[in-house]
Amino acid sequence: MVSNLLATRRRRFMAVVAASVMAGGLALTAQGPDPQTAVNNAFNQFKTLKEGKNADYIPALAKVDPNLYGIALITVDGKVYTAGDIKTEVSIQSISKVFTMAQVIQEQGLDAIEKRIGVDATGARFNSIIAVEGVKTVVGTGAPEMNPLVNPGAISATSMVTGANSDAVWKKIIGTYNDYAGRNLTVLQDVYKSESDSNQRNQAIGALMLAYGYIKSNWPQAVDLYTRQCSVGVNAKDLAMMAATLAAGGKNPVTGKVLLDPAKVPGVLAVMATAGLYDDSGKWLYHTGLPAKSGVGGGIIAVAPGKFGIAVISPPLDDAGNSVRAQRTITAISNALGANPYAVRPK
Ligand code: DON
Repeated sequence: MVSNLLATRRRRFMAVVAASVMAGGLALTAQGPDPQTAVNNAFNQFKTLKEGKNADYIPALAKVDPNLYGIALITVDGKVYTAGDIKTEVSIQSISKVFTMAQVIQEQGLDAIEKRIGVDATGARFNSIIAVEGVKTVVGTGAPEMNPLVNPGAISATSMVTGANSDAVWKKIIGTYNDYAGRNLTVLQDVYKSESDSNQRNQAIGALMLAYGYIKSNWPQAVDLYTRQCSVGVNAKDLAMMAATLAAGGKNPVTGKVLLDPAKVPGVLAVMATAGLYDDSGKWLYHTGLPAKSGVGGGIIAVAPGKFGIAVISPPLDDAGNSVRAQRTITAISNALGANPYAVRPK
């Protein structure tokens, strides 16, 4: 009798596990919430949160609606869960750095980024000039210990994208972003103009990088293309698809196109984990365990490897330049779904 009851309970338990695995393989526990519930709960919890302030050092960003709030989660098998505004586009900003780095890694290998730029956290603000002046180099090789996700390393990564001229390089960059997002993206011209008129710091960084030999040639082209890549318009669903492609081992889960060899994905995720939220990357990793990347346009993406990609857009930022509401939202959803890859249940 007791053993019959146990067998029935066990069958029910296994059915719940199987159902949750089929729903995207997300649940670490049989009772875990489904992704749509987790997304809805976080949306309702944070929809009135008003902390933070839009970036204004790029004038066009100050004009973006601070109330914009959209969440998208896409599983590695292409299921889409959303809440809020997933249509309105903001500029991708620094999130673009991940995909330019990924393009260079795909074409030139993991070594190219490690040797020309470095993969260490700088611990400095994203547009720090002191970080260029004070850069450490690897003894023996002289390779800089920078990072492709902060401005000096990112401008350098853009300069590494190959092409006969500026147009050819741009085609490759935007083509890569389109493939990750699974649709054709366009530059938000007002942001591009506004940032081009106000990016003297990045021009200084570009010139310094050439002076130190960390950029090989034509820094003005690299800074211009970097500025253009930061101005690409994306909505929360585009960003989630880009993140989901990394979560799925480099293959866009909807189009099926392979954009990054699976063996190269861990390197990209490692750089996101060490520097994706700038000088707050440690704090972020401590609470979520997820490789992520923020942009001053208000977006953040995070990757739960083998499970899902998630993106939130909410323009007001904290002092480090990361969206306040996006950080809270992703943390809540990831914890609800048991997505921290470091969290293991003892057997
Ligand atoms: O270069 C800049 O300053 C911007 N285009 C991008 C900075 C950024 O998104 C940093 N984000 N948190």
